[in-house]
Amino acid sequence: MIDCLSVLKTSGYETLRLASPEEHLLVVTLNREERSNAMNTQMGRELRDVFAGFYSDSQGIRCIVLTGAGKKAFCAGADLKERNGMSNESWLAQHAIFEQHVRAMLECPIPVIAAVNGAAFGGGMEMALSADFIYAAKSARFALTETSLGIMPGAGGTQNLPRACGVRRAKEIILTAEAFTAQQAFEWGIVNRVCEDESLMSDALETAGKIAANGPLAVRQAKKSIGMATQTDLGTGYTFEIEAYNLLVSTADRMEGIRAFNEKRKPNFEGR
Ligand code: COA
Repeated sequence: MIDCLSVLKTSGYETLRLASPEEHLLVVTLNREERSNAMNTQMGRELRDVFAGFYSDSQGIRCIVLTGAGKKAFCAGADLKERNGMSNESWLAQHAIFEQHVRAMLECPIPVIAAVNGAAFGGGMEMALSADFIYAAKSARFALTETSLGIMPGAGGTQNLPRACGVRRAKEIILTAEAFTAQQAFEWGIVNRVCEDESLMSDALETAGKIAANGPLAVRQAKKSIGMATQTDLGTGYTFEIEAYNLLVSTADRMEGIRAFNEKRKPNFEGR
């Protein structure tokens, strides 16, 4: 276990468990098992701070896996016990923190894989959708329950879900608030891979390891460029891609990549 990262040294996370099982990898575990890993205000703050931290300093991390503690839930959305009786003002203040968390995840330069190990309901499903892609345990279930609670998704759900599965399926999911299985989520394009429950984390970490072995600057630039694909027209998107590409040409990693190929060895990327 690697523990030299400052993100791991930051003591006092109440709601998260952070670990680096291998060099360059970080596992963030939502750690409120007794509440189905529901997101209270403190979890919102901690997630915001962890993800925002990577915007300015990657700390050598090249891929993040986000999962939930225990076997039953990834995250049951907002903590409805904490919210019980909450004033409108407190609700909005809490939601502003959740919004900062969503933005920090969406802007995280490092790839994030959500390893959905159980129920991903409401804000929990939205959190998974804010990752770059999702692996789900066979027994995992998904739902955007908000409309059944008299509210609507407010953590990116109405934007990220149609981008994953199309507008019509997203409308059905959000307007009915019905739960669905990992297999359905896979068939609808929401989940990249359905894993055996027991192998979810090893599968996610194996993929994270493949990402981490690639040129970190190349991965970051490619992630940023793909992000433009759903936000702009093709011509503008391609212009952005070329700008992102050109920045890589003069990097040491680009030169190492071509050298390693010709020397028939694995490249040793340093992220510069
Ligand atoms: N907020 C606070 N506590 C929650 C919670 C939430 N969103 N979701 C679950 N919990 C708590 C339960 O109250 C229970 O604790 P308790 O026994 O002390 O009351 C514990 O987590 C386990 O939940 P339980 O329902 O017994 O487990 P389950 O495995 O049968 O079902 C869920 C798990 C997540 C499917 C189910 O609890 C659920 O539907 N929760 C609500 C999810 C939701 O609609 N979230 C949207 C928020 S916008």
